[in-house]
Amino acid sequence: PSNPKLQLLRYQGKWLLQSWVPGIIAIQRGGFAPRRGGGDIVLASLPKCGTTWLKALAFATMARRAHPPAGDEQHPLLRLNPHDCVPSMEKLFAAGLGSKIMDALPSPRLMATHVHHSLLPASITDNPHCKIIYICRDPKDMIVSLWHFVRRRLPEIPFLELFESACEGRCLSSSIWDHILGYWNASKTTVLFLRYEELLHDPADSVRKLARFVGQPFSPEEEEAGDVEDIVRLCSFEQMKNLEVNRAAGLSPVLQQNAYTNGSFFRKGGTGDWANHMTPEMAERLDAIVEEKLRGSGLSFRS
Ligand code: A3P
Repeated sequence: PSNPKLQLLRYQGKWLLQSWVPGIIAIQRGGFAPRRGGGDIVLASLPKCGTTWLKALAFATMARRAHPPAGDEQHPLLRLNPHDCVPSMEKLFAAGLGSKIMDALPSPRLMATHVHHSLLPASITDNPHCKIIYICRDPKDMIVSLWHFVRRRLPEIPFLELFESACEGRCLSSSIWDHILGYWNASKTTVLFLRYEELLHDPADSVRKLARFVGQPFSPEEEEAGDVEDIVRLCSFEQMKNLEVNRAAGLSPVLQQNAYTNGSFFRKGGTGDWANHMTPEMAERLDAIVEEKLRGSGLSFRS
């Protein structure tokens, strides 16, 4: 995009939001030190694909022994925005706070990234103590969500500008299809691959998958007590959107500095909003590009 605030750089063969590059370089140069034995979980996504939701679900699942998902008025997710519970690596490292905050996280550490799989260091991608959970979303809905997100700060940005840029393979982190394929191809080994639409359809099933993947499956007692459903409820769109802490005034100073508001993270929360922004021809064009790029992978976004 032509707007300087959305300036993209080509870094190691991938388009990237310029402001993330220093953080990525710091991570690649050894800034991220894996925690041996403790286990690290990295939540990966393209922006606007359900990162906030995944952060909340993973956090609630992994913290459930210390913080039961129901009846705990002090639950961190009732007091903090999910982005304050699970730090975003490249932003932290870009701000020079990476090691300090990462070192202070309890094990297993939970953190997030928007970086392409191939740009992550081997200490994350090739480390038996480190697991990655990826979430993707129908690119059409993702672009619409991104436009609403970006135009909070750049009200004049035309939808068509973001759409064209995405069709040409320039998104905030690589191209949409290249980002998805990077994690999809690794999902045979160290990556749990989730889809936003799957989470909407059966969130409890995704929570169980996630818990098994991080080595903390729900016990029969937890199942009987309804813990999975409690986590789903705690992290649901309606519940999170309406929490005081997720309203603008309740956001942490870091999130406020970035001019984020409640609507930056919680807007409509569903599928198919693309039909309100794209003509059938635009949708068909993007679907065809994505289909072509994903051909042979076994992945598809055609409904
Ligand atoms: P929409 O803009 O389509 O509503 P990210 O967290 O990666 O920035 O993605 C934001 C998108 O996820 C937004 O989509 C937002 O509304 C949706 N979202 C956030 N929390 C959610 C939740 N708990 N359940 C379902 N969707 C959620």
